[in-house]
Order: sequence, then structure tokens, then C-alpha cells
Amino acid sequence: MRHIFTTIIAIATLFTAMATSPQRSTRPIYLDPDADIEERVEDALARMTLKEKIAIIHAQSKFSSPGVPRLGIAEIWCTDGPHGIRPEVLWDEWDQARWTNDSCTAYPALTCLAATWNRDIAELYGVSIGEEARFRDKDVLLGPGVNIYRTPLCGRNFEYMGEDPYLASEMVVPYIVGVQRQGVAACVKHYALNNEELHRHSVDVDLSDRALYEIYLPAFKAAVERGKAWSIMGSYNLYRGTYACHNDRLLNKILKQEWGFDGVVISDWGGTHSTDEAITGGLDLEFGSWTDGLREGASNAYDMYYMALPYLEKIECGEVGTEELDEKVRRVLRLTFRTAMNLDKPYGAMCSEAHTEAARRIGEEGIVLLHNKNNNLPIAADAKRILVVGENAIKMMTVGGGSSSLKVQHECSPLEGIDNYYANKADIIYARGYVGDVTGSYNGVETGQNLQDKRSPKQLIDEAVELAKSVDHVVFIGGLNKSEKQDCEGADRTQLALPYNQNSVIEALADATNNLTVVLISGNAVEMPWLNKVESVVQAWYLGSEAGNAIARILAGEVNPSGKLPFTFGAKLKDYPAHADGATFPNPKKVYYHDDIFVGYRGFEKRGTKPLFAFGHGLSYTKFEYSDLRLSSNEIYHDAEHGNDTLTVTLTVTNSGDRAGKEVVQLYIADSKSSLPRPKKELKGFEKVELQAGESKEVSFVIDRTALSFYDDRVAEWVAESGEFKVLVGASSADIRLKESFELK
Ligand code: BGC
Repeated sequence: MRHIFTTIIAIATLFTAMATSPQRSTRPIYLDPDADIEERVEDALARMTLKEKIAIIHAQSKFSSPGVPRLGIAEIWCTDGPHGIRPEVLWDEWDQARWTNDSCTAYPALTCLAATWNRDIAELYGVSIGEEARFRDKDVLLGPGVNIYRTPLCGRNFEYMGEDPYLASEMVVPYIVGVQRQGVAACVKHYALNNEELHRHSVDVDLSDRALYEIYLPAFKAAVERGKAWSIMGSYNLYRGTYACHNDRLLNKILKQEWGFDGVVISDWGGTHSTDEAITGGLDLEFGSWTDGLREGASNAYDMYYMALPYLEKIECGEVGTEELDEKVRRVLRLTFRTAMNLDKPYGAMCSEAHTEAARRIGEEGIVLLHNKNNNLPIAADAKRILVVGENAIKMMTVGGGSSSLKVQHECSPLEGIDNYYANKADIIYARGYVGDVTGSYNGVETGQNLQDKRSPKQLIDEAVELAKSVDHVVFIGGLNKSEKQDCEGADRTQLALPYNQNSVIEALADATNNLTVVLISGNAVEMPWLNKVESVVQAWYLGSEAGNAIARILAGEVNPSGKLPFTFGAKLKDYPAHADGATFPNPKKVYYHDDIFVGYRGFEKRGTKPLFAFGHGLSYTKFEYSDLRLSSNEIYHDAEHGNDTLTVTLTVTNSGDRAGKEVVQLYIADSKSSLPRPKKELKGFEKVELQAGESKEVSFVIDRTALSFYDDRVAEWVAESGEFKVLVGASSADIRLKESFELK
């Protein structure tokens, strides 16, 4: 009886305890979404067998790693990146899987995003593409890319953010933040020094530490330190004799130790070359071994990966320990809990109206009006007949170019966009002008376009010229495309000139009309021998799903152009520092970057070479005046103990034209005297401001010593030397409107 009584009391106490104290989870810590992520990592790690640890650090298919099925630890699924979500591919092949629910929105290429110079737009981009990745159940988005635009021949420049480390840093951070807010990791690529394509698997890059730290690394550093990127992709090339995917200096010393990266280093697909180096060289997750990244690939080789059985065998025979392995596993688990097993993540969205609108807005803000004689653009409101000429007016540009190729739900070509816009306002006539690349397929995705045209170049030109004589405005739409040796992964361009006889078409049209607009669709600069003969030039990039609508709205003046160049357009190839003084390109084996820190405008300005269009250049349909530059002080101190260690720069920008517009106010710093050579000036701030006609706004920038520093490789430190500096504010690197000096003390 007593015994029963005691039991009743015990049960009652238990119920009371359950009702009053917080419910204790019976789940293991690693599955508890409320537990601290580091505790989850350690708990999971402690439960895993050696074989499970080995399994989790390499691929099980083209784009996934296996997780730990026994413990319910999820797989990690990756997707390209960086302009839209790649169609599903077969388990073991590059070919698309022919799903019918995997068409995406194509966003403008990253060169266009960089050309917006708008951090909010970069975040919008990240959120939009991140939502699509999330909806498609992807954990890692393979992008964005921030390799520096060193040469206009690099086939992959269109996937990157231009030549300036500050601009790329500012634009990459919000993109990452936007993506990762969806519970999807950004995988920033290609770390590092992947600045040419043709020999990307064999080129061995060397350069000064100064160039490394000042030019090639800052965007990656910002991605890690400020963007908090959860993963990063090692590049194919070598750096100082060791492949970047297992390069101790790049990955362990700089990325993980100096910058405190706690995410996963993922190899580029086929970028791993040695088990020993992979173990100690900082690689965490191996993908795509025995592929060339594009076409070739051994089937089902996963157990043979450098970080699969060969690693296991080395551990089992005692040749290596498990310390490095545990560290790699920790990072992969951390990534898994941040993404695949993150219960707080939103659900995402696919091909929504908001995404279409985002794609169009990004495009509209990135399009750059390069040249506009006699206010030839916007197209006159009373234009009744408009002739559109050129293959790029009709060619789908979302298929091709390498791993960024997409399968889109819709793509509005420039001609369609112009047709839609002018539906009841003007007659739109089309002439082909030239025949370039008529193919249109990538890994099983077909554009379905038949672009064949058997007419001779002369017949095509004659037709266009004849039509040009009877219209109010001629729009030539050409440039490059995504086929090999143009803007395409795995090969580089062979010339700066436009391909396919386009120069002759433009010259002939220029002779026939005084209202010629040239629209260039490309991710790279091109030569423009006809520049003085045409009225307008518009740089329109690869704009994705909404290309045509964005272009039409700019040409018609519905949207006022506000993009600025993220890289220099040189007049000739040898004007680019990377091609000057007999430098070879492309480089199958060793290359030393003799241009050093003088990349892009830094090099053009040092050599006094006038570019065709300078870094930061971009016109508007209105005019902006700059006035009233003020510094909060003429002195700035190294440390706050002696005086202010920051300086505020304020100026006024006025829209003095008769329509609303946006201006990118650019702030450059010049060091008057220094112990090492420095560029004539460097971008250290920018703000995009929207102004109604007649409106003025104040724009302010805060400068601190980071904006004044250079990397002194004699002491391996960032140094700001006392003395005079200048603040230069303007509308481009070549159009400085206001100047002031101050002293660093
Ligand atoms: C490219 C990467 C891409 C990967 C997966 C590689 O060839 O260099 O940028 O993410 O393939 O498609």
C-alpha cells in the first residue's frame, strides 16, 4: 500500500515537473535546432565513424555530397551560379536531367550588377537568386565570382565584378548577405588568381604580395569578413607552384588564419590534384575530380577521389592522423547546419513576378550609356519607324558560356523588348546585318532558335543599309556572345576587336544615317574604330530573362541610364597593362604579373594612356553638377589619441537637367608622396543618389586610415604614411569635378 502511494506521488511529481519546467528535448544535440551550432557540430562529429567522416568530405554525384545517412545528417546540394539556378543535371553527368520543373529566372551577369554601383541592388540580386536556390532545395550557390578583370581577353570576365577591388568588395557583400538570408550558402569563386581561362588548369601565377593583397584579394576578404560567406571555391590554377585548391598560403594562412574564415573550402570541379596536399593544404570538400569542369568526366569515380579511399588508407596505415580530417568534417557539418539542416530558413520562391521585376531593375540600373552625341538618345518620342539590326537583337544569351549556362522560363530578346515597348507607337523593322554564332545548346539545353542565314555578308549589309535610309532611328545590336573564344568559360578571346564583320556593318550604317545607336551585348570591352561616326553607344551586358525589356526602356527614355563602367575600355589591346611591354597571353605554364598593382585604370593612368572609356564612366539623359566640397578637418590622425582618426567629406550634387536621374558619386584618394609607388588615385567610396530635375542633395563619405593605406610588402603590413593626401570627387575616374587636400598626422 505504502509502495503504491509512493509511486503515485512520484508520478504526480513527474507530471508537475513536466508541466512547470521547460520541456527537455530527447533529441540528440546535433539534431536540436535550438542548440548552439558549434555544440551540434561537436556532437555530430563525436558520433561519426572514420568512414563516415571520409565520406562527408567528397562528392557522391556531380553536385552533391552524401551527408551521414545513418545519423540523418543531410546531403549538401550545390548549384551553379552565379546568374541563375542551373538546370538539374544527371547524377553522374554534366548533361541536364531533362526535368520539366527546373527552369529559372536569369538575372543579369555580374558585370552588369557591378555596373549598377548600387549596394541595394546587389542585395536584391542576392535575395532573388537565393530564393530560387532555396526553392529548388539547393544548399550552396556556386557564386558570386570576384576575380579581378586583368585583361579584356579573359573569357570569364562576364561572371565577375570588374577591375577595382573596392567596387567588387562593396558589391559582393550585399549579394552574399541576400543569398545566405535564404539559408543558402554563397560559394565565392574562384579563389584566387583565376584571371585567364584557356590554360586555367595549368597556369602557375606569381605576383608581388602587394598586388596580391591590394588588387586580387580584397573582394574575397570582404566576402569573408563582412559578407560572412559560408563557403569559398578554390580555383583551378596554381599559385607559386601549388594548386590553389590545396594551397597552404592561400587557404590556411590567409583565408583561415588571417581572415578567420569558418566555412568550407570547396574545390573547383576537378581542381584537386593530390591527397597529401589536400589533407594539409586547407581543402575541405572535394568536387568534380577527373573532370575538366566542362565536358569530360570519369563515371562513378567518387571512391577514388583524392579525399576518399586514398585518404582513408593513409589514416588506416598510420601515415597521417585524423586532426585535419576532423577539422574538415567540422566545417562541412557547420555548413550543413547553416543550410540543409537549418529549420529557420524561409521556403524560397521560383520565377515569381518579383523575380522578373528584379531581373529587369538590375539590368536597367547596370546598362551604361557610353556615348551620346547631340542627345541622339533617348529615341525621339515622335519616331515612327525604327530599324533594329544585328544578331544579338534576336539571339538567346542565357544558354552557353560554360557552367553559368541556364534553362530559363522566359527570355525577352532585345528585339522583342523593343517590339513590345513600341507596339502601338512605331513600326519596328529588323535586319540581320551579320551572321555570328548560330548554335544554341549547352549540356542538353537547347535554345530551339534557328539562326541560320545563308546570305553573303554583302547582301546582309546592303539590306540593312537600304532600310536605314528610310527610318527615324537605327539601333545596331551586336557585341560578343557566349560561344567559345568569346565570353565563355574554358577559353579566352583572341582579339579585342568585335567578331563577325560587325565593324563593317556599323561603318556602313553610320554612312547611311545620322541617328545610329550601337548597343553592345558583352561582358568585356571591345575595340570601337567607328566610335566617332556613330551617335550613341550603349553597353548592355548579358541581361538575362528581362534583357529586351530593360534595353527598350533605356533606349526609349522610360528609364534614365545610371550604370557606370566597372572596368576600363581601352582603345587597343596593348593599352591594357597586362598586355603591355610584350607580355604573353594566354599563359600555358608560368606567368608573373608584371603589371603588379597597376591593373585597369591604375595602369592606364600611370602610363598616361587615354582609354576609350574610363573606369567609372557612364552618361545620363540629365546633367549633374558637383559643388561645395567640404572636409570636416584638414587633418586626420593615425590614432584617436591625438585627434580625429576619421574625416568626413561632404559635397552637393545637383540635377541641373530637366528630368529625374541617378548619379554615382565617386570618391578617389591620391597619396601625394609615398615610399613605394602608388597609383595616381584609387576608388575609396561611392554613393548612388537619385535626384529629381533641379533637386540637390548632400553626399557624405567617411574616410579613415584604411582608405589611405597600401600593402607594404617589405614589412607584410598595411601602412598609411603621414603626409598629404587628396580627395578627388567626380563622375568617373577621368572626370574629377572637385578636389581637396588634407594631411595624415
Ligand atoms: C567552374 C565553376 C563551376 C563548376 C561547377 C567549374 O568548371 O569553374 O565555376 O561552379 O565548374 O559547374
